[in-house]
Amino acid sequence: QLDQTLAAIAAADTLDAVEAIRVAALGKQGWVSALLKTLGQMSPEERQSEGPRIHAAREAVTAALADRRAGIEAAVLDARLAAETVDLSLPAPALPKGSVHPVSQVMDELAEIFADMGFAVASGPEIEDDWHNFTALNMPETHPARAMHDTFYFPDRDAQGRSMLLRTHTSPVQIRSMLAQGAPLRIIAPGRVYRSDSDATHTPMFHQIEGLVIDKGIHLGHLKWTLETFLKAFFERDDIVLRLRPSYFPFTEPSVEVDVGYTLVNGKRVIGGGGDVPDGGWMEVLGSGMVNRRVIEAGGLDPDEWQGFAFGTGVDRLAMLKYGMDDLRAFFDGDIRWLSHYGFAA
Ligand code: PHE
Repeated sequence: QLDQTLAAIAAADTLDAVEAIRVAALGKQGWVSALLKTLGQMSPEERQSEGPRIHAAREAVTAALADRRAGIEAAVLDARLAAETVDLSLPAPALPKGSVHPVSQVMDELAEIFADMGFAVASGPEIEDDWHNFTALNMPETHPARAMHDTFYFPDRDAQGRSMLLRTHTSPVQIRSMLAQGAPLRIIAPGRVYRSDSDATHTPMFHQIEGLVIDKGIHLGHLKWTLETFLKAFFERDDIVLRLRPSYFPFTEPSVEVDVGYTLVNGKRVIGGGGDVPDGGWMEVLGSGMVNRRVIEAGGLDPDEWQGFAFGTGVDRLAMLKYGMDDLRAFFDGDIRWLSHYGFAA
């Protein structure tokens, strides 16, 4: 019976099976227990010979049971570990991928291009006062140019009695940079600007980038070279032609509007190409000029010592021209289909 029990234990492959064998051998009704009970009725001689045999059988069964139980538990653990293994070779499920918005991407491109020319990035507040936004830029209280800006004003004035507004251009950063850093100066200032205006080509919030160079002996040639170098880098072609037109901004004198030539490719306007007189036509891309003496003074500098040029342009418009987009409003809709059509989303 001992051999049978040991064989059964060896063959048991679940804890339940092991337990059933234990009950059948060592349980109250078990055969080992029954043998132990017979010891009481034995003669001392019989007991001396049978006793050790029965106890040895009980030890053997108990040890075999413990052994088998440990074996089964280890096997169960192994099976669980194997089942729960992470298979690193399996392909991961595809997740929707985010991407950088075209406006942010173009701002990054611009910062990189100007960084190569030694420009640092400056910034100013979107909530401005009318001194920085207008007055210091040679647009005094009654200046008609203020009307061009369709300004969003706040109802309250600041502690110095200045009207507060959402900046209408990035030009106030010119003033803030001169006052904070002095001269010489070479900065760009990308950021949001606001005008009360809305149609297919105007949104109440849009993005501009300002450029300002203040140094000694700066002249229009520096401005032209800088803008030409910038536009060629931005549109990634050498055959960009510029046309400088005399214009008017209160904060520059003389003022220059910059057009780039475009050609028509399959009815679409493409910047560049077409030689000195592009067959498509001219598109205005920048406002610029030599910084007005009064602006240099407002920036706390002596205009007899320091000269400079400044330029400003719409980042959203540059993005539209570079990537062939035609509705400005789509930039701010956050429509994934539109973004992915232009390769800006997965
Ligand atoms: N601030 C002007 C605008 O908003 C652009 C500009 C900047 C023009 C600097 C000249 C010099 O249109």
